[in-house]
Formats: sequence, C-alpha cells, structure tokens
Amino acid sequence: MGLKRVGILTGGGDCSGLNAVIRAVTRSATIEYDAEVVGIEDGFEGLIFDRHRKLGIEETKEILTRGGTILGATNKGHPFEYREFDKDGQVTKRDYSKQTIENFKKLKLDCLFVVGGDGTLQIANRLYEMGLPLIGIPKTIDNDLEGTDYTFGYQTAVQVACDALDRLHTTGESHQRVMILEVMGRDAGWIGLEAGIAGRAHVILIPEIPYDMGKVLGKIRARIERGDPFSIIVVAEGAKETGKEAITSEGASKRLQGVAQLGGVGYHVAKKISEQIDLEVRCTVLGHTQRGGTPLAFDRILGTRLGTEAVQAASEGKTGNMVALQGREIVLVPLKSLAGIVRQVPADSPLIRTAESIGVCLGR
Ligand code: F6P
Repeated sequence: MGLKRVGILTGGGDCSGLNAVIRAVTRSATIEYDAEVVGIEDGFEGLIFDRHRKLGIEETKEILTRGGTILGATNKGHPFEYREFDKDGQVTKRDYSKQTIENFKKLKLDCLFVVGGDGTLQIANRLYEMGLPLIGIPKTIDNDLEGTDYTFGYQTAVQVACDALDRLHTTGESHQRVMILEVMGRDAGWIGLEAGIAGRAHVILIPEIPYDMGKVLGKIRARIERGDPFSIIVVAEGAKETGKEAITSEGASKRLQGVAQLGGVGYHVAKKISEQIDLEVRCTVLGHTQRGGTPLAFDRILGTRLGTEAVQAASEGKTGNMVALQGREIVLVPLKSLAGIVRQVPADSPLIRTAESIGVCLGR
C-alpha cells in the first residue's frame, strides 16, 4: 500500500538518537512515498491536546547530530492516566483516551510511529488494540527493552559513563581516593556493567546482583594491601544491598509528587566505605548527562535504520509491531509481546563472567 500521511511522536525520557529517527522517518516517507509527515509534540500530550506540526526534509536537515528530540518528550503524558493537579496540589488521574483517539482521527494518518521505551510502547499497544494504526520504535538509554538486542541512546550513555570513569581514574589515583560513579539504568545494570568494564572499574554494583558490603570493602582493602590505595566503583542507580530495597526519593517538582525516583545509592555506598576504611571517598552522580548530547555513530545508524524500516513496515500495513534489532537484522516484534517486561542482565550473562574473570568485584 502507498503512504499518504504518517505521524511521529517521541514519548518517555529522551536519549541521544531520537532526532536520527525523526529525520529518517521524515526523509524516507517523503523520498520513497511522497507522503506528508506530521510531528506530534511532547509525546502523547500532543495527541491528547492536539499539538502537532508539519515535518519535511527542510525541517529535519540539521538534526542528525543533535541530542534530545525536536518534537519534545514527556514521560507524564499518559492518555489513560493523565496526572492533573488542583490548586491545593492534589493529583487526579484522568482518562483522556477518547479525546486522544478523536484527535488522532482528525489527523487522518495511515500510521503513527511511536518512539519510546517500555511505558510508551505499552500505551501504543493499548491504542493499537483500540483500532489506531501504530508502529513502535524502541528507545532508551537503559537498554532494558524486551525483543531488541540494543536500543539507540544506550551506546552513547555508556560512552559518557566510560569517559567519566577515565577522568575519575586520574584524579582518584593522584589523591589516593575511592571514587564512586553512580550511573542510570533503572532496574537494569547494562550501563553500569558495560561502562564499568570499559572504564576499568574495580567494583561494579548492579541491580541484578544484590551486593554484600563486606565484599566491596574486602576488594578495596586488598587493593590497599597490594599498593594501590585508590579504587574506582560504578554503582547503578537501582543497585541494592543484600536483603534491602533500592534507594529512592520522591521527585523534587510538583508534577512528580508521590513518584519515587531512583538515586542516592552512590552516596550510601560512599558513607558505608568511609565508616570502615581510612581513605577519602567521593561520589559523582552522572545523572542526565547520560541522556544528552550528540549521539555516537552507532546510535545514529541504529536510529536511522529503525526509522526507515518502520516506514517500510507501515507501507506494508504491518501495524501493531515494533521494529527491533536482533543480531544484525531489523525485525518486527508484536507490540503485545513486550507486556511490560524489563530485560535485565541475565544471571548467566557472558558480561558478568567476563567482568569477574578479569578480577572485577560485583559485590558477591
Ligand atoms: O529510563 C531512562 C532513565 O534515564 C533512567 O535511567 C532513569 O532512572 C530515569 O530515566 C530518569 O527519569 P527522569 O528523567 O524522569 O528523572
């Protein structure tokens, strides 16, 4: 089938490479199908409140190397459970799905490309099951999506963390300090594990392996004894001590009231180490630097491939799927098969074996 008019939105948290997808979808739909392209603003919020604009080759020509998303993104614009605040700050969740579907119909799209992570793609599946022609395109720095080997944004985030570790090495070694780097990743340890291996960390703590503080202290002491009185530790934000929960705090802004956000485990580990070992300990929280900035070539290429393959799938009427990288191929995975599954680092991951076999302590 031909394509006359397609749309694209970027939902959830941003990451590097989103603009590569927007550009690829726009160019491919325009060049191959002479289709019109509509950019929906701020994720699903743009569908709920009818905010969109035209996209063409001109509008997307300078964006490949730019971080963020030219369309805006939000992880709070849930069409079925939109959070609204009254003047006393009380939150009510409102169902805007009917309005969302009406606005969608007004746009007369053959297909809407929904670029997002787990939450966004679950919403996409619900709307698809209610009759909207959608195709998902996976993104997240966490690399924790089921059905795809890699998500774009991830390699860039790992590189940012690796660069930070290289810098922490030189200053940590000069001052004989224990340097802790807290990285993102939510409940998955991919960023921590890969950045830690690439950045020569001595200890890597990830959510999948509850850590024993005694083992962490043992590793630092062993290094001191053999004449290396500094250590580099990567802590994934979702890491938990054996028998304890991950550390969270309530979001700082009004819109995040009642929403628990991961973060703080790096300082927690720092405190525990300083109580037991007579070395200075410092903690760096890398935060959103992992999500910003120019995408690496890998993420630009993956984003571009996913964008063009999504347009191809739309032209064949294959809605209700997500385009995904499996091995070297881009394949289609049914949106319904994702079902909120978080792809954590498996216990038998070769990466875990690799880290331990070169002497990295994983806190066990
Ligand atoms: O899912 C991507 C991610 O960056 C996580 O690694 C992190 O926990 C979370 O989003 C932060 O979300 P926010 O930008 O809403 O603080």
